[in-house]
Amino acid sequence: MRDDNKQGSDFPAPEAGVMPRHIGIIMDGNGRWAAARGLPRVEGHRRGVEALRRAIRIAGDYRIPFLTIYAFSTENWRRPAQEVTYLMGLLRRFIRNDLAELHGNGVRVRVIGSRENVPPDIIALIDEAEAMTRGNANMTLVVAFNYGSRQEIADAARRLVEMVARGEMRADEIDMDRLSGAMFAPDIPDPDLIIRTSGEQRLSNFLMWQAAYAEFVFLPQHWPDFDKAAFDQALAQFAARERRFGALPGVVTGGATNGLKVMTGS
Ligand code: FPP
Repeated sequence: MRDDNKQGSDFPAPEAGVMPRHIGIIMDGNGRWAAARGLPRVEGHRRGVEALRRAIRIAGDYRIPFLTIYAFSTENWRRPAQEVTYLMGLLRRFIRNDLAELHGNGVRVRVIGSRENVPPDIIALIDEAEAMTRGNANMTLVVAFNYGSRQEIADAARRLVEMVARGEMRADEIDMDRLSGAMFAPDIPDPDLIIRTSGEQRLSNFLMWQAAYAEFVFLPQHWPDFDKAAFDQALAQFAARERRFGALPGVVTGGATNGLKVMTGS
């Protein structure tokens, strides 16, 4: 069957040297994918997990060091309870079914987001996944789960203010580096590329602080249709962009953000 959402791969395979070091993905369109087929929304999410497995495999093949996926936002609690329960179940199953393979492939799993309202058994699974894969170095898969950027920034600000209140820091020492250091995963470099599927062109509270200099690629496909052609298309668009970080063309020299250090050399 012809799939109108799928784009042919007119783009060459990405070349080393212009690969992003950190890719963030907003996996949008599961519901629309399902609706277009007369299926329940949750079937779109189930197929979304298959697309996620593909994306992780492709990122691994391309030796992308960091991949962050937006699995559940702090706003997703507003969805019908049945869908929220299903999404929680998907994360449970994803960790139970895929952890061994991820570990075997040298993938380190990190989870960013609030633990508030997250069922205790899921917190235990997250802890187990992070502990088991702590020593892995081939790729870091960051799962943004119960994640919201505004909350992350507000929490970071509160932590710094608490340090000031305890006399551990002066207020005038609060700067961009301190704030960066108070985020969920301060050791992970900023994303170079953010991909969003399904045609919507917004950030939806995803990595807003970290994406200051990210390139954005918006793909028309719904997330369950995400495949290697789509991945290659995003990488090709990224490679064609000129990243200046606020400087003049061709003269990016110094490091105000860790975004400047993110390109892998070839
Ligand atoms: C957006 O589609 C997708 C989500 C809110 C959830 C993303 C989750 C997955 C792809 C699977 C879960 C993976 C793990 C590891 C838990 P949407 O429902 O907003 O689609 P719509 O905009 O078409 O309604």
